[in-house]
Amino acid sequence: MSHRVLVPKRRPRRFYGHGIPGVELQKLSGKLIVVEGADGSGRSTQIARLVDWLEASGHATVQVGLKRSTLVSEELEKAQEGNILSHRTLSLFYATDFADQLENIILPALRAGFMVLADRYIYTLMARDLVRGMDENWLKNLYGIAPVPDAVFYLNVSPQELVQRNLAKNAALDYWESGMDIGLAGDMFDSFLIYQGKMLEQFKHLQTIYGFTMLDGNKSVDEINAELRSQIEQVLLGNNGGPSPRRNDSMEYDNKAADQ
Ligand SMILES: Nc1ncnc2c1ncn2[C@@H]1O[C@H](COP(=O)(O)OP(=O)(O)OP(=O)(O)O)[C@@H](O)[C@H]1O
Ligand SMILES: [Mg+2]
Repeated sequence: MSHRVLVPKRRPRRFYGHGIPGVELQKLSGKLIVVEGADGSGRSTQIARLVDWLEASGHATVQVGLKRSTLVSEELEKAQEGNILSHRTLSLFYATDFADQLENIILPALRAGFMVLADRYIYTLMARDLVRGMDENWLKNLYGIAPVPDAVFYLNVSPQELVQRNLAKNAALDYWESGMDIGLAGDMFDSFLIYQGKMLEQFKHLQTIYGFTMLDGNKSVDEINAELRSQIEQVLLGNNGGPSPRRNDSMEYDNKAADQ
């Protein structure tokens, strides 16, 4: 069987805000694909499969994610262990981590025509900060350096399923992903459910601004992957207009459907 490698069609690219001075947007010929979703929603599982599929189809790929910059990820980890920073300082630490990966990985890779797969992006960072009461316009301005991705997928998984997956994977819930730093409940399990509910509320709000393609993350790994592939093919063909808040996707999770 002969495979024809799709040469990504170019689309005008833009930044969400002021961007980064000196970056020639028209030279960024690669594609930026973001997978968002709560802790344990299946992002890594899907991205690993997408990388295999894309590489096998002749596309060079690069992966980025939160807390992965060589510049500050270790220091960020240490700061979190000690729980020593204010929300704003921690937020700026994450923004630094993002900016470092943006300048050193994302932009060079896009310039070289790579497919960049982002395991979370500015939306998670904004949602976390919004839950902690930070000012939305301040955050929008801060993350105005981010290029608008070619597609943003949100893996929507019910909170109960998230608990199961996280416990099966790590045997424990994460302190930060349970919102324990903001004192929502004494018990980490209760706190996780409250915190994930608050995160979902913020994501629903961000959806109205940025537009995400919602995927039912409760489906099987294969079903979700098939959906992602077909949507990414459209991106490569240039048929996808990028994330749009006008989409009629719902972030409501239908608990009744899951019970069946
Ligand atoms: N569609 C699915 N159905 C059932 N289980 C799944 C599905 N996708 C992933 N899992 C399982 O759920 C767990 C979490 O998946 P994964 O590590 O891919 O999620 P993640 O979003 O990357 O999590 P983290 O936030 O910890 O990085 C893993 O044990 C994985 O095998
Ligand atoms: Mg992961």
